[in-house]
Amino acid sequence: MKKLLFLVALILVGASQVRADEGMWLPSEILKKIKDIQSQGFKLSAEDIYSVNQSSLKDAVVHFGGGCTGELISGEGLLITNHHCGFGQIQSHSSVEHDYLKDGFWAMSKAEELPNPGLTVSFLEYMTDVTDEVLKGYKPNMTEEKRIELVAKNSKKIEEKVLKGKKNLKANVKPIYYGNQYFLFVYKVFTDVRLVGAPPSSIGKFGGDTDNWMWPRHTGDFSLFRVYAGEDNEPAPYSENNVPYRPKRHFKVNAKGIQEGDFTMVYGFPGTTREYLFSDAVKYTAYTSNPHKIALRTLRLNIQKEEMGKDQAVRIKYASKQASVANAWKKWQGEAKGIIRLKAVENKQAFEAKFDQWAQGKPEYEGLVARFKELYGSIEELSLVQDYQTEALNAVELISFAGRGQRGAEKFYKDYYMPIDKASFIALYNAYNKNIADKYKSPYFKEQLQNFGSVEAWADALFTAEPNLAMAAEIYEKTNAYFKENIAPTLAEVNKEITLLYRAYMRGQMEYNEATNGGKIFYPDANSTLRVTYGKVKGYSPSDAVYYTPVSSLTGIIEKDNPEIYDYNIPQRLRDLYAAKDFGKWEVAGSVPVAFIATNHTSGGNSGSPVLDAEGNLIGVNFDRVWEGTMSDVVYDPVVCRNIALDIRYALFIIDKLAGANHLLQEMEILK
Ligand code: ARG
Ligand code: GLU
Repeated sequence: MKKLLFLVALILVGASQVRADEGMWLPSEILKKIKDIQSQGFKLSAEDIYSVNQSSLKDAVVHFGGGCTGELISGEGLLITNHHCGFGQIQSHSSVEHDYLKDGFWAMSKAEELPNPGLTVSFLEYMTDVTDEVLKGYKPNMTEEKRIELVAKNSKKIEEKVLKGKKNLKANVKPIYYGNQYFLFVYKVFTDVRLVGAPPSSIGKFGGDTDNWMWPRHTGDFSLFRVYAGEDNEPAPYSENNVPYRPKRHFKVNAKGIQEGDFTMVYGFPGTTREYLFSDAVKYTAYTSNPHKIALRTLRLNIQKEEMGKDQAVRIKYASKQASVANAWKKWQGEAKGIIRLKAVENKQAFEAKFDQWAQGKPEYEGLVARFKELYGSIEELSLVQDYQTEALNAVELISFAGRGQRGAEKFYKDYYMPIDKASFIALYNAYNKNIADKYKSPYFKEQLQNFGSVEAWADALFTAEPNLAMAAEIYEKTNAYFKENIAPTLAEVNKEITLLYRAYMRGQMEYNEATNGGKIFYPDANSTLRVTYGKVKGYSPSDAVYYTPVSSLTGIIEKDNPEIYDYNIPQRLRDLYAAKDFGKWEVAGSVPVAFIATNHTSGGNSGSPVLDAEGNLIGVNFDRVWEGTMSDVVYDPVVCRNIALDIRYALFIIDKLAGANHLLQEMEILK
């Protein structure tokens, strides 16, 4: 208990150190940061950001689906998020006849808005520190197993208590700082969420995977949805009788424009970061794991690209899958480069050496560094086997589909093209055979390979006219059972101890920092909970002799426009608007602003997040980071880490001039 109080005190100290940009802060703890936020230019109060007593900015932010963020921009439940966040929905309503991916979609009245079974949006009702309750009954000499049990049991009790007698709420207890603290998050979940509008992919995905993770960027990455509720304004399953939800709060839209140096805040749901890793884990990521996973995905992408180029129907089927394969593939490359360029491994090693010395004679921390080394060393090979299990063996669509009991069959076959999957099987299974040491290879895999003589012959048996689902299921079961029985237990055992070490190491880093005035800042790693980050609109230099300014415009789209290149082929209507200088109210200096970069510390999951100005009005929608800064999930560098946001004026321009959906603009409160 004393330890815990000390830790909380340390967090307070860490949090009060003045330094902008890096950090993802818990909204309920924002009081500790508000002075610094205001000193950067923010005009509102901590209560305006997060409050349980009155409506606050948080009430306009939602967790969109499983992995994105969205925000409310009208009193009638209108929601904006990224095009790539709504991509699955837009695709699901598309066919060769009604190709909303290609042509865009605009509901001209509420009656035309399209329901999306399975899609949810969640509003955070409140969050609160429940550490004491979660650790009730904990004894310092408890084994990690017992502690895990205790935490699970107490967490469940806390969640059940909240949900008792309540409908449409979701409650999660989540650890932060490796289980040194726990928070309860309570959400209200809406399930009737309809598609309202999406630009054609040639705008919403402009630049495609070529420009993805890069600046300068010109992607109109937004889509519009509407949240519906029952008559009582509470969540209700889809029904024709539902009405547009009246949110507690929605953002006003600031169309007055932004400038370099302006304050910005991003409010959203970053997924996972690992800022306090031990050096060996960072080394494994940059030098082993990422390179292997990149190589495996390169194989799949090349196969997809070739087949998609031959046939429009195949292109539609694989559009969404390819985007997700390519996305991590490109990020891992930037991340590894960034880690290496920043010398993150060497810097961590230097820190660990100092920490180790300081830890001498402190029973809690002494020997941590050596033990980390031992443990990470012992699982390095097994971790690679794990990477190959997911990125090679299980990455064959037919095999994972059969393996999950053919669930979702309709959707699976709608988007399935066997020649791609067969070629992927051949490439991936050959790579597994080549790169995984014999002693770790699944015996079933070896046996089958011997029976068939080659992966190619094996593929011929698996991908016959009717795919051989029984064989696919067997491959899944046998190779995964082997992994589960022979590889996973060791990994789990070691990882359990690693987690335990991190819990102490986390406290140790804070204590060390306190004792040495190390100037480090501490904030909990992202874990798909709501966070606030803030920074400034700012350019950067990606390489020698190059400097990027922070705002892009329609002029850049016209420069990139090329009917011959799929990713850069814009709709004729956009060309015409540009030629006629028909920019309406959204014109700035003979063009329209499209996107901007800023120093906010964001991560995957922040897609669709509101980018706010100093008054809490919406100036942009976050959708990416710059490639040189993608290592910020592991190590942040204020010099090159930038988030990329859609300038809200480009969305307004597209809705107004391209879609002619003026009724949507009318719903919003636009400051101009
Ligand atoms: N890189 C962005 C993110 O991580 C956008 C991804 C979607 N776009 C794409 N071209 N794959 O989500
Ligand atoms: N595009 C990412 C997402 O879908 C956000 C970019 C990032 O990782 O920062 O969440």
